Order: sequence, then structure tokens, then C-alpha cells
Amino acid sequence: MANGGSGIRPFPFFRAGVRADPAVGAKPVLALEGVTKFFRPDVPTLRDVNLTVERGEFLFITGPSGAGKSTLLSLIYRAETPDDGRILFSGRDVARLAPKSIPYLRRNLGIVFQDFKVVDHWTVFENCAVALEILDMPRRLVRARVAEALERVGLAGRGDERTENLSGGEMQRCAVARAIVTEPALLLADEPTGNLDPHLALDILTLFEEINATGTTVLFATHDHSLISKRNHRIVSLEDGRITEARGGLKSWHGRLTKPLSSSSDEGRAA
Ligand SMILES: Nc1ncnc2c1ncn2[C@@H]1O[C@H](COP(=O)(O)OP(=O)(O)O)[C@@H](O)[C@H]1O
Ligand SMILES: [Mg+2]
Repeated sequence: MANGGSGIRPFPFFRAGVRADPAVGAKPVLALEGVTKFFRPDVPTLRDVNLTVERGEFLFITGPSGAGKSTLLSLIYRAETPDDGRILFSGRDVARLAPKSIPYLRRNLGIVFQDFKVVDHWTVFENCAVALEILDMPRRLVRARVAEALERVGLAGRGDERTENLSGGEMQRCAVARAIVTEPALLLADEPTGNLDPHLALDILTLFEEINATGTTVLFATHDHSLISKRNHRIVSLEDGRITEARGGLKSWHGRLTKPLSSSSDEGRAA
């Protein structure tokens, strides 16, 4: 009923949470299979990347600057396409989506960037509402959904303020609200704390964790080791375009900061 006559076609492959088709829910939300991406003919930016993400997971994607973190995310939201391999989002290969299907993909993906990408001279409400207005959602529903998203990010009642008057941390909260207002299955964040002081960075990380706790899968790209080391999330590292996982969790990953993976049992002390 809510979508009746609104021009929104159901796209069951991508729906999140309670509205998901049970058969879709059984699949990993995201699977990268042999993904390779070249920007230069000689050196691949990503080489044979394999990664499976189950529904509800929280992943850190880390690695030094230039390692390919942003490239990996841009392949998922189809800003780029791979030269080889498949990227399955709820079982569908996003690289092979017809152009007309890309809006449906984006509707099921929330994206947050380091530089917020909010429109300064718009209000907080307008910045969030745009994500629903492009879906032709009825005005009344837009208002309710935006109010709910703003409450979730700690900006309840701030909808009428112009974004340019917000602090950096508040701008990022606004960007997070815009990303989640469509209730995406997957939330991508590319260095979302990169422009924030350490205590604000931790607040924003906590916000992503709260969103994750309600069932949204989160991929959080950051090169900030101090942030990663505060939490025990799954860590995927990129280096020279190759993906490695610290399967032993935080402790085994710590060793990788200073030396290559070895069988040494105390490598966690190296840092
Ligand atoms: N659109 C592009 N055109 C050419 N080279 C690119 C492009 N995007 C990224 N690269 C290159 O790919 C490599 C990985 O970049 P990026 O994914 O931004 O790394 P990270 O986000 O880990 O810092 C870098 O060498 C970068 O110069
Ligand atoms: Mg980057």
C-alpha cells in the first residue's frame, strides 16, 4: 500500500530485513569471486579478490593508502566495473546489471564518504529526503522516514537546520541518515571518519555499529589502525591489490602491522 502508485517497482532481490524473500536471505549478501580491476595495463589495482559477506556482518576493510579500498567499494556500487570476476549482491551480478537497474541497486545500498557529500545550502531534512524523492515516494511517507532516520543518527528535531551550520560530526551523521533512509541491505562507508577528530571518529564508528545491530550489513573502509584496534570486527586487508584476512581476529591482525603473516604465536605483540 505504501508503495502503491508511487512508481516504485518491487525489486525483491535486493530488499533487506523483514521484507526479504526467505530464499534470498539464505544467500550471502555479498560475494566477490575472482575480482580483478586494472586502471593501468601493467599493474592490477585489485587481483583475484574473493570475499564473502553474510547478512548482518560488520567488516573493516583496511590497507594502506592506494591499496584499493575505494576501488573495491566503487565496484560494489557500480561506479566502476571489474575487468574479471563477479560481484554478487544478494545473488545478482552487479557488474552485469542493465543501466536501468542501477537505481534499484543503489536503493539497496547506502554509501557514506569521507567528505560527507552533503549539500551545504540544503537543510538536513532536504539532504536526507532526496534519497526517497528520487524514488517518487509520497511526501507524507518521506517525512516519516526521514524523521526516523534522523532520530537513529542522533539528529532528531534538527531537520530544518541548514547543513552548512552543522559541525563535521553532525554533517557525517546527516550523511549516514541519508544513506540509511532507504533501509538498504548493505551500508558502505569509505573512510567515513577520515575528516573527524579521534573522539568523533569513535562516535561515528559506534553509530555504524548501532545500525549494524538492527540487521544492516556494514563494510567500513578505513586505514585508521587505532580505530580498528578498538573493536573486534572481521578485518579484511588489502595490500598490492590482494586481499588477506586476519582469521585469528584482532590479535593475528596486529602482527601484520609490522611484519608479514608468520606462524609465530606471539606476533600480536609486535605492534
Ligand atoms: N579512476 C581511477 N583511475 C585511475 N587510477 C585509479 C582510479 N581509481 C583508483 N585508481 C588507482 O588505484 C589504486 C588504488 O586506489 P584506491 O582504491 O583509491 O585506494 P585506497 O582507497 O585504498 O587508498 C591507486 O593506485 C589509484 O591511483
Ligand atoms: Mg580510498
